[in-house]
Amino acid sequence: MDVSTAPRPSCPTKTLQKQRLEALSAFYHVIIVCLAPCSTYLLIYLLFTRLWSLTVLYLMWLYLDRDTPSRGGRRWEWLRTWRIWKQQRDYFPIKLVKTAELPPNQNYVLGAHPHGIMSTGLVCNFLTESNNFSRRFPGIQPWIAMLNFFFYLPVFRDYIMAGGLRPVSRASLDFILSQGQLGLAVVIVPGGAHEAMYTAPRQNCLKLLNRKGFVRLALRHGASLVPVYSFGENDVFKTKIFAKGSWLHLSQIICKKFTRFTFCIFWGRSLFMRKSWGLLPLARPITTVVGAPIPVPQLSTPTEEQVDHYHRLYLEALERLFEEHKESCGVPASSHLTFR
Ligand SMILES: *[C@@H]1O[C@H](CO)[C@@H](O)[C@H](O)[C@H]1NC(C)=O
Repeated sequence: MDVSTAPRPSCPTKTLQKQRLEALSAFYHVIIVCLAPCSTYLLIYLLFTRLWSLTVLYLMWLYLDRDTPSRGGRRWEWLRTWRIWKQQRDYFPIKLVKTAELPPNQNYVLGAHPHGIMSTGLVCNFLTESNNFSRRFPGIQPWIAMLNFFFYLPVFRDYIMAGGLRPVSRASLDFILSQGQLGLAVVIVPGGAHEAMYTAPRQNCLKLLNRKGFVRLALRHGASLVPVYSFGENDVFKTKIFAKGSWLHLSQIICKKFTRFTFCIFWGRSLFMRKSWGLLPLARPITTVVGAPIPVPQLSTPTEEQVDHYHRLYLEALERLFEEHKESCGVPASSHLTFR
């Protein structure tokens, strides 16, 4: 096993300036996510001012560019190397653990769990080079799949595309894997928004029993399945989970049904005062463990039995990965994964 060995300053040796930089960097991610809808409001607002032509120009651009997210994307490699990501990594801190090689002579579908509130570990380890992803998995190009909805938000869509995100639609993911290129890794969070509703400190509950689309994708392209688990992802925010049957839980389900997106009540600490609440995530370690690939055959139209078979193999491999690494990642021996 090859554990990331970055020299990580332990707390007492961190200067005040370093601590502030780290907190700001961790906060940046939250601001971006929370401000995502604001660009839409701004665009509509400008329409009623003298700057209306800016909105019109942008909408024209949006129209011309409408197929880019699902056809090739538009990644800026330099975004992966921003220094802010390293500060963010040190804040929690976030680690990447590799348990097996991913040879670049084939493609992969990585299932990443749990969703958490913002998938912080996933973003840090796969979308940035702060834990040396490209050096540790040479020849592997990761693409993270995200809810289609976000690719309709003006400006935000350009930002996430630049970061290497692609819509999670079948057309978009089939497009990535049918380019004849090898060494591609499509990263999917099968639990999606539904799993975000299970986020709570020290819980390891996954929405996975009836999530099989990622297995079908892997089978259609003969891409090996790889389980990925981010220990600690559920610990960085406190959350309020609504009781089944309560009207808030019901509104979450209805919201998800119509937009595939849902709201969660979460909070961390304040950026300015350590003791009060705010939206800065809590500094709890996150360790993303990448499992060994599970080879699958290429079947252009897999049957339900074949899908179920590989889905079962995947769940078993994920469970093994969790059990093997949990104690070194601070999870008590008595905790186990639950699948729903
Ligand atoms: C990344 O690689 C560089 C150069 O090999 C090394 O100095 C650095 O410590 C590595 N960082 C991590 C987090 O492994």
